[in-house]
Amino acid sequence: MQARGEWSSKIGFILAASGSAIGLGNIWRFPYIAGKNGGAAFVLIYLIIVVLIGLPYMLGELAIGRAAQRNPVGAIEAIRPRSPWKGVGYLGVLTGLGILSFYGVIAGWTVGYIFKMLSGNPGDFATFISDPVKVILLLAFFILITAGIVYGGVSGGIERWSKILMPLLFVLMLGLIIYANTLPGSGEGLKFYLMPDISKIDGSVLLAALGQAFFSLSLGMGLMITYGSYVTKSDDLFSSAGYIVLFDSLIALMAGLIIFPALFANHQSPEVGAKLVFVVLPEMFAHMSGGAVVGSLFFLLLSVAALTSTISLLEVPVAFVVDEKKISRKKVVWIVAFVAFLLGIPSALSQGANPFLTHFGLIPQRLSDPDFLSQMSFVFGDFSLALGALLLSIFIGWVWGADKAAAEIKQGSKTFGAFFKAWVFMMRYFIPVVIFIILLNLFGIFD
Ligand code: PHE
Repeated sequence: MQARGEWSSKIGFILAASGSAIGLGNIWRFPYIAGKNGGAAFVLIYLIIVVLIGLPYMLGELAIGRAAQRNPVGAIEAIRPRSPWKGVGYLGVLTGLGILSFYGVIAGWTVGYIFKMLSGNPGDFATFISDPVKVILLLAFFILITAGIVYGGVSGGIERWSKILMPLLFVLMLGLIIYANTLPGSGEGLKFYLMPDISKIDGSVLLAALGQAFFSLSLGMGLMITYGSYVTKSDDLFSSAGYIVLFDSLIALMAGLIIFPALFANHQSPEVGAKLVFVVLPEMFAHMSGGAVVGSLFFLLLSVAALTSTISLLEVPVAFVVDEKKISRKKVVWIVAFVAFLLGIPSALSQGANPFLTHFGLIPQRLSDPDFLSQMSFVFGDFSLALGALLLSIFIGWVWGADKAAAEIKQGSKTFGAFFKAWVFMMRYFIPVVIFIILLNLFGIFD
């Protein structure tokens, strides 16, 4: 059998899993969703959901992975052989590829912006993303770097690079927070972001926070099953998950501490949506002294954050092929990466380069924007994750058995025992019901 690899240390695992969780979801998606959903009120609800739902669900995925020491497909097969549940594993592998394909396109834009900012004149966002040659080359570049790191294996590639890149990201962001909060007028932004107006909390804020929590914590596609499978039995999954959730929330909160003060200092509306980071910020950097360097630094750290996430997205299908087909990691990585690149091309061309892909519109307008990239994001980033999380929580809670999962988590943990019963209850009842509601909401049932 092929050697599977293992994290060399607990901190290595925590940083790699945090690297997966921390990405465009935290720095690009979190601020614009928070901005659209009332600022501080959203932030408050988000944090509550992360602790009550994100953390316990994550423990469930990690437990399957470590118990079975396999990728999502193999893990489910090991626990419940020859059952249709295996399909949930395949769904996860497919979702990894699907998210990687469109996520790689956006990550490519961030790399492009490192250089655009340095040039001092970022130009027009819409023009940039509709240039077919540039966006495809940037996608290829990003996938290539991702594959290079995954090629290095679990501890030599993913863990080694996460240990360098994650602390670097943290330090860069700290600097930018200080910078943004010394701008005149930034105080108003802090207020919008941190002083909750409880009257703004309604059902749609709640559901937006739930969806954001799953995407941001990399839950629902078996990523934590895969990363959990490289953890040794003596490690404490409970405290590790606690740190991952803490770091992911911290970086999202920090991103807001950069963006909202800067935004208000520049008299812009927080409700501009998905283009927040790519349109509003470059404009702001362009008008500030030293903005070329600060701006390019910002996009550099956004690329770094995206990279540790694309690494994890590639690792899930790679682990599946390595485990199940017994082909060496070194061969598999390039093949899977190439497939992800091909799959990403229509998304890359859907932002104005190709009219058919730009107005693709297979999924109704009320669910997703018509361009191919947005539709991929809906299918894989929203729908597949929610469906996967629902099925996996039922599998963990009822098929494998929440008490068996809890016993796995307890092994190596001194503190989990006190939460054993509460966790079993959450996994069996609370979490599947809540996820089912997210799923219904995706189809506009509550609109
Ligand atoms: N959590 C990542 C982010 O916030 C995205 C991601 C989702 C990565 C699912 C892996 C699995 O950017």
